[in-house]
Amino acid sequence: MSYSVIRPLFAAMALMAATPAFAAGDVAHPKQQQWAFDGVFGTFDKPSIQRGLQVYKEVCAACHGLDRVAFRTLTGVGFSEAEVKSLAASYDVQDGPNDVGEMFTRPGQPSDKFPNPYANDNMARAMNNGALPPDLSLIVKARPDGANYLFSLLTGYSDAPKGFELPEGSYYNKYFPGGVIKMPPPLSADQVTYQDGTHATVEQEARDLVNFLQWAAEPEMEDRKHMGIKVMIFLLVMVGFFYVAKKRIWNNIEH
Ligand code: HEC
Repeated sequence: MSYSVIRPLFAAMALMAATPAFAAGDVAHPKQQQWAFDGVFGTFDKPSIQRGLQVYKEVCAACHGLDRVAFRTLTGVGFSEAEVKSLAASYDVQDGPNDVGEMFTRPGQPSDKFPNPYANDNMARAMNNGALPPDLSLIVKARPDGANYLFSLLTGYSDAPKGFELPEGSYYNKYFPGGVIKMPPPLSADQVTYQDGTHATVEQEARDLVNFLQWAAEPEMEDRKHMGIKVMIFLLVMVGFFYVAKKRIWNNIEH
């Protein structure tokens, strides 16, 4: 095969590699928000995380699991052991096998993780128009610019632009790749009643959820950042120390 024949082939291959599965123009850039957990000195906004748990529990948990989060870790965001115990007990957890080899359900305990709403993925798909609602434990880390993406997705539903063909059972959301998502808009104003009196707008609910899911994805973030700062301070002190030591040693040597 001569080069002139191969060249268009190479060009086509390069183009295929460069083109993502959906056209890049199809997805909007996430709205950039300010978060308490941003930056080197970022911390968790615990009241917001607690409200986010409430939104997850009352809205998202109907379709999404949180398989990697154990109830007992919630003491880290300000819940008492008694609150954690009663929250865990409000869930039915499958356990077993028992002495006669059968699985059984029992009330949840603090060491259990949030149980999945569906028995398996096929059941989840069957109940959601063929789409699988992903587990939310690590979703903030699993998407680029996860926190801003999640906030934008939850607040980004709108009518489809004129001429846009929306398939049956789908919704328009410009932040979702391709613009067509099978999750019905989950949030509306006053969908939850916050105990601390915070006004539950859609934006507020989304913010609280993002704070909650950011914590769920990396509960040890604050420790990691504190350790980083300590290490930097230690290194700075050592640089000063070695500088003085070097000066003293080389001072007496002629050069
Ligand atoms: C009625 C069921 C239902 C509820 C309630 C629901 N979701 Fe979903 N969700 C879905 C389905 C189905 C999908 C998959 C959509 C698709 O692939 O088209 C999904 C997808 C997602 C995704 C993944 C988007 C991506 O980038 O892949 C996120 C994040 C998400 N939901 C968050 C939430 C949050 C947060 C809540 C609560 C406020 C919530 N969902 C409530 C059904 C639901």
